[in-house]
Amino acid sequence: MLAAIREAAGDIWKYSDSEHLSLRKALADHHGCGIENLMIGEGVDGLLGMAVRLVVSPGTKVVTSLGAYPTFNYHVDGFGGVRISVPYSHDREDLEALLAAVQEHDATMVYFANPDNPMGSFWHEDDVARFVDALPETCMMVLDEAYCECGPAEAFPAIDRFLDRPNILRFRTFSKAYGLAGVRAGYVIGEAQTIAAFNKIRNHFGMPHLSLVAAEAALADQAYLQSVIGRIRDARDEIARIARKNGLSPLPSATNFVAIDCGRDGAYSRAIVEGLGARGVFIRMPGVAPLDRCIRVSTGLSEDIELFARELPTVLQALD
Ligand SMILES: Cc1ncc(COP(=O)(O)O)c(C=O)c1O
Repeated sequence: MLAAIREAAGDIWKYSDSEHLSLRKALADHHGCGIENLMIGEGVDGLLGMAVRLVVSPGTKVVTSLGAYPTFNYHVDGFGGVRISVPYSHDREDLEALLAAVQEHDATMVYFANPDNPMGSFWHEDDVARFVDALPETCMMVLDEAYCECGPAEAFPAIDRFLDRPNILRFRTFSKAYGLAGVRAGYVIGEAQTIAAFNKIRNHFGMPHLSLVAAEAALADQAYLQSVIGRIRDARDEIARIARKNGLSPLPSATNFVAIDCGRDGAYSRAIVEGLGARGVFIRMPGVAPLDRCIRVSTGLSEDIELFARELPTVLQALD
């Protein structure tokens, strides 16, 4: 993949293909859908911004989960939408409550991440399909599957399942398991006319050439992707083991991080995050109660995890 970027570097004086045809064809082959079902953008975040812009204007009602991945909220707020936030239930986004909120408020958009950030939970594909079936057609579903490569296959409905539904958009990225966060490449999959609507508002010179080349090379190397997924799994197990050894409770994770229940309140978790930060270990934590009883530790190289294992006991002792 790095070789592909190096080779393409000499071409950067040209505009890239604004239709992103080569990457869209490769993704269409990979997923078994049409290129008309795919739009490329600057990561999921960039595409979320466009999806929100398509349907949200001042006063539009949007349902999301309290404490879910926050960038979506920034876009909604930026376009003047009115957010209705539904609490998590048992550390998962609450599908039933999300649907009830959509119905009660006649919402125009709903956000759901499967698997979710920050807790790393997932819903089974049958539950996702039930949600989609019950969703009013007037409500656009933003199904954020940024972590799909890290999660179990049973969480993800087949790609062709919702392609005839104009109100379902599925977002994927090269930032996570593909390891290309810096190239800012993601894609949205959906019904052809809904996808075509992105053309009305997107940047018409399109994605940077090197990002397109990097993403296509990464997609082509599925063996490498599988090896990374294996390493993510091992790192998750190791982080969970370290947590347990220190008297903390790791939550199951379908992502590339592990949420660890520290058993007390948000102030305690924050003190752990800050204590580790002061010792050179950058981790994060959920923003709202009761999720904020957890810290969130990303998988990484073994030396990163060893550092976490070394510093965590010192930080915990200092807090007792
Ligand atoms: C649920 C979720 N969606 C989207 C993103 C951002 O993805 P991208 O880098 O493709 O913008 C993240 C990043 O942490 C995330 O956790």
